[in-house]
Amino acid sequence: MDEKKEDIYILAIESSCDDTSAAVMRGDTVLSNVTASQAVHEQYGGVVPELASRAHELNIVPVVDAALKRAGVKKEELSAIAFTRGPGLMGSLLVGVSFAKGLAASLGIPMVEVNHLQGHILAHFIKEDGVEHKSPEYPFLCLMVSGGNSQIVKVNSYDNMEIIGQTIDDAAGEAMDKCAKVMGLGYPGGPVIDRLAREGNPKSHTFSKPHIPGLDYSFSGLKTSFLYTLRKLVAEDPDYVSKNLNDLAASFEATVVEILMDKLYKATKMLKIKRVALSGGVSANTALRQAFHDYAKRYGWEIFIPKFGFTTDNAAMIGIVGYHKFLDKDFCTMDKPAFSRTTI
Ligand code: KG4
Repeated sequence: MDEKKEDIYILAIESSCDDTSAAVMRGDTVLSNVTASQAVHEQYGGVVPELASRAHELNIVPVVDAALKRAGVKKEELSAIAFTRGPGLMGSLLVGVSFAKGLAASLGIPMVEVNHLQGHILAHFIKEDGVEHKSPEYPFLCLMVSGGNSQIVKVNSYDNMEIIGQTIDDAAGEAMDKCAKVMGLGYPGGPVIDRLAREGNPKSHTFSKPHIPGLDYSFSGLKTSFLYTLRKLVAEDPDYVSKNLNDLAASFEATVVEILMDKLYKATKMLKIKRVALSGGVSANTALRQAFHDYAKRYGWEIFIPKFGFTTDNAAMIGIVGYHKFLDKDFCTMDKPAFSRTTI
């Protein structure tokens, strides 16, 4: 007989980049979602892969222990272990994948492999006890914007997704981080730009926008335009950046949001789909969230914006995919290695 949803406990593990995260799910409800971030990278202005994998090794046991304790679930009660198999940094992935395999083998329970990007998109289906929740109906469009990806995905079902547009060079988050670095802001720069932009004028500076056909994105031209504009302004006034940080951040951020929304709007028209979701780390951005609300009002979109805790890398989003795959008995064998590159 099939297990009832309430009897399915899944431990999920995410270690694809610089966050070590573990979550416990009861069915599609998250009971705990514990993440240890790695401050060690801040001083280098970006993630250092070798340091990331070493930090995962230190963090994985305490993070999993905390997730189980917070959920009030014993490891012997677990039905399966879900883990991020890729894409991501190989050294980082190996820590989570090896840990998941070892624990599943010692407990004699199945493993479920999860694609990290699929996790970001299905974060919209995570439920929480006592919190009202509305998941999108299929099909819907999802704007997936993170440090490594900028994609428009047509989501037909939990395991059937089509990428209909994607960046041909940098991702939106990467562009945010790089331009923040040029302005001497910390890493990751996206949240800093977000904060500074709130006090700035988005129309104060103009940067060039890409002319890419179809639904694909490009952010490298904007990055170059930002750099050249800054160089010119600093040549005239060496203190220009520090004097105009808010306006620069607001104008840059507004350009990124405009580029993202233009193509997304085009996609909704082409596919005649008005259910639109946002996901990935950049979905935490205030201006982008506001643009979603504005477009919903103007064009009658039904929008889905994830809770902050489910926007950046976290294990609950791996757990929700794990739960659906578990129901389909889509288990993974020990010989499946981690993979660093792929799409959904
Ligand atoms: O999804 P994520 O946590 O990691 C992966 O890339 O998988 O995304 C991280 C990206 C970084 O580039 C970071 O700067 C950006 O998300 N980000 C933001 C904000 N919070 C995180 N960008 C703009 N505004 C934010 N509030």
